[in-house]
Parts: sequence; structure tokens; C-alpha cells
Amino acid sequence: MFDTLHQERVLILDFGSQTTQLIARRVRESHVYCEIHPFNMDAGKIEEFHPRGIILSGGPSSVHEEGAPLIDPRIFTLGIPIFGICYGMQLMAHLMGGAVEKAQMREYGPAAIEIDLPGDVFSDLEKTGQRVWMSHGDRILELPPGFVTMAHSDNSPAAAMGDSKRNLYGVQFHPEVAHTPCGKDVLENFLFRVCRCRPVWTMKSFVESEIDSVRKKVGDDQVICALSGGVDSSVVAVLLHKALGERLHCIFVNNGLLRKGEAETVQRVFRDHFEMNLIYIDASAEFLDRLRGVTDPERKRKIIGNLFIEVFEREAARISGARWLAQGTLYPDVIESVSFRGPSATIKTHHNVGGLPERMKFALIEPLRELFKDEVRLVGRELGLPERIIMRHPFPGPGLAIRLLGEITAENLEILREADAVIQEEIEACGWYEHVWQAFAVLLPVRSVGVMGDGRTYDQVVALRAVESVDAMTADWARLPYDVLARISNRIINEVKGVNRVVYDISSKPPSTIEWE
Ligand code: XMP
Repeated sequence: MFDTLHQERVLILDFGSQTTQLIARRVRESHVYCEIHPFNMDAGKIEEFHPRGIILSGGPSSVHEEGAPLIDPRIFTLGIPIFGICYGMQLMAHLMGGAVEKAQMREYGPAAIEIDLPGDVFSDLEKTGQRVWMSHGDRILELPPGFVTMAHSDNSPAAAMGDSKRNLYGVQFHPEVAHTPCGKDVLENFLFRVCRCRPVWTMKSFVESEIDSVRKKVGDDQVICALSGGVDSSVVAVLLHKALGERLHCIFVNNGLLRKGEAETVQRVFRDHFEMNLIYIDASAEFLDRLRGVTDPERKRKIIGNLFIEVFEREAARISGARWLAQGTLYPDVIESVSFRGPSATIKTHHNVGGLPERMKFALIEPLRELFKDEVRLVGRELGLPERIIMRHPFPGPGLAIRLLGEITAENLEILREADAVIQEEIEACGWYEHVWQAFAVLLPVRSVGVMGDGRTYDQVVALRAVESVDAMTADWARLPYDVLARISNRIINEVKGVNRVVYDISSKPPSTIEWE
């Protein structure tokens, strides 16, 4: 009923843990397809999903709380192997007749477990001194009938439990986090020994299967894709081009707010190298015109977003027979809309240009909607995209407009672009590019005094912003080496006319934000 790629599927029920997505990524890294669904998915729906196994995530609740998230207890009778993590384990114990002790104190951090019953999820593991990461309040006092203790720690008499007859297992620690070194083995033991999954989820097979399904879906129609040069839209474009060739029309709008060399790179890569049907629109004069006199960042964003849609619609209307619009929606966006916790940790997608599909009455095609960002990068590699595009930092839709404080003029844009180019070059040259989330220049609307040669200058200030982050929700300023900072400052002041001072932004988010706007 499913293609080979999706046949070996695991279901993850989400009880609201911060690490639910991490569980899914670990399972996928082991080449098994999985999906995250809310904890209250009913047993009938679960049967229809045909999972080879079910993982119950952790979560912030206690089974003793009123309104604690519960599951349909019928799932324990479906004959599908189940693996409970932390809250998932406690819930399993609670619903199956064990006793869960209410927390006196949380146990948080590293712990060592002793394995009492090797085999099953603990196959091929050292029995003593396994380091694991704990993060729980309640703990299991009495196992449910049929279960045995599989591991213990100083604080948890039942750090793991199992019933090998029914293939039900639970662990008190978090195997999905990097602080649990044996975590990957435990999860893989569950996937491959208990659930007997085959590791067929690879990006090579994903590409093949997606090309096939896009062709079936689109038939002989034409497809339009808004290409920004970012990772997601680039991967969408190349994947669809592989499936559809000339029937894919990519539109790249130069809004005049791009980084140095960006428009040229996009044309070189997609038109010259991949030989794609690329429509390049230089709308920079139009954007600059609309932005004249505007200083408020939200107004800048609105003007840029709306004009982008206008320009895009105008160009799309010239492509006859186009019915489909390709979008780079990723799996985390899909989960956000259905998950237990509701909107959570992702980059502000609401900032990005919305409204295109609604207004244009296109049918949507979203080839990446099953993928996590790291998988998108692997697909990009599989498709031969240059490493520079695959690993590039996120760049905001409104571009340099929110890094140029005050009014946007062609002259100031040029200064910012040059200063930013120095930063990109130096951050790459010193090997920090992969360590930072973003590194860029901000042009401040102030002038300060300086001396150059014999003369006094009264020029502009550039702020360097470089942050480390995993999801842009929180960020810390990067501890760049002093000599890198010195080189960036020297080069900007010497090479960029109009700047006589460079400062380094040492604020974290929160309370600051990454962009200055
Ligand atoms: P802040 O400044 O809110 O930024 O800490 C978090 C992340 O979001 C990006 N960002 C944007 N991306 N359009 C975008 O496409 C925007 O208007 C926008 N504003 C911020 C920012 O670059 C950072 O990665």
C-alpha cells in the first residue's frame, strides 16, 4: 500500500517534549522513515498508518496531573512494538497497571545506568557504566504485570523496563540526545531488532521516488518556482528540474537588496550550470523607488513583500499553462501545524512572503514537506548542488533592507554590500563559517569622527553581527578570535569608502534579536 521507501515506517506520538523532533531525526538518520503525530491519535488511525513500531516521546507533564496527555490504551493491544521515552515510559507503566511515583525532586543531567537485562533494546551494549541523559520528575516504582527491569541507576530503580513477549519497552533516559552516547544503538536496536525495519530511507531513494511522484502529479503541466538562492528553494528547483526539465520555470527576482555577487551566482549556478529555465528579473530600481523615505522596519518588510508578489505575479502571468507553484515547505513547518505544542521553535516563517499561493490560485507542489533541514542538505548534495549553496547561512527575505537602519539609498546599500562582502570572505577564510548561524554587517544611521591621514573624517559606523544558534529562537554572539575581528575591522575601514568605525555586537538573543532591523 505504500512505496518501498515509506513502507518501513515508524510512528512517533508527541507528548510535547523539546526533543521530539530529535527522536525523529535520529530515526531518519538510521534510514527509517518516521512521522510525528499528536499523542491523541486514535488507535484506528494508528492501524491505518501501518507503523512497524511506535515511539512515545517524553513530555513536560506528570501522569498524576489533571488533564495529563493520555493515549488510547487500545494501542497496547495492536501487536505493534512500542518504545516509551521518559514520560512515554511512565505513561505506559501507569496505563498498564504499574505505579509511578510523584516527583519529590527532578533528576536532570548526566547519570550512569547498569544494564540488568542485556538483549532486545540493549543488545551489544556494555553492561556497566553506560552514560545517559536524564530529565524527569516522576519515576517508576512498580512495574506493570509482564514487565521486567532492564536497567537501573542510582536514582531510578527502573531506568528501563520491557516485556519482550509483547514487544513493549520503556527507558527513563533520553536516547535521542547527544549526551547519551549509546542512544543511537538503543534506538537502532528497537528499530532493527524489535521492529525488524529495513533501512531503506536514504536521500538517494527519496530523490528517485519524489521525481516519480512529481511526474505523476503534474502530468504535462508547467510548474513555476520562486527561486531565492537559499538552500530550500534551490533544492526544490533542482529536484523539480530533474523531474520536469523545461517544464519548470524558475523566477528569480533581484530586489536590489541582495548581497554582493548574489544575482550573478544564482544565474551562473542555475542557468549556466544546471541549464534551467531561469527567468531573471532585475526589479531593483522599482524596489528602491517604493522604499524611498521609509525608515520603519515593519513598513519596509510590507512594501518589499507586497512588491515581490506584484513582480512575481506579473512574470508568472507570462508563462502560459502554468498551474502549479512549487514551495520549499519543510517537515518542521508541517508538524508545527498539527503538533501537541502548537507553534514552537522554528525560524520566523511568518516573516517570509506569504500569500503567493492564495492569491494566485495555483495548486501547490511541496517536494520537501517530509524532510528535515539536514535531509534537505543531503538531497542538495545528492543532486550535485555546490557546497556553498548547501551550507549557506539563512538570509532574510527583505534582505539588506533590515540591516540598513534608516532610509534606504543606493549609496548606503553599496556601502553595506561591500562591508558585508568583507565579512563573508573573512569568516569563510578563518574557518568559522560553519560554526556560526549568521555573520553579517549592519549599517548604522550615525556618523562619528575619525582621522585618516592628515584629515578628519565624519563617516558611518558598521556593526558586525556574528551569532551561534541552533534554531534562531535563541542565539549567542560568536566568540570570534581577536585577530579575525581585527582583520575585518581593518579591511572594512580601509576598503569601504564612507566607513570609519567598526563595532562588534556582543548581545545575546534574548533579550536582543539577531537582526537589528
Ligand atoms: P531575529 O532578528 O528575530 O531573527 O532574531 C531570527 C531569524 O530570522 C531571520 N529573520 C527574517 N527572515 N524575513 C526572513 O525571511 C524577515 O523579515 C526576517 N527577520 C528576521 C533572521 O535572519 C534570523 O535568522
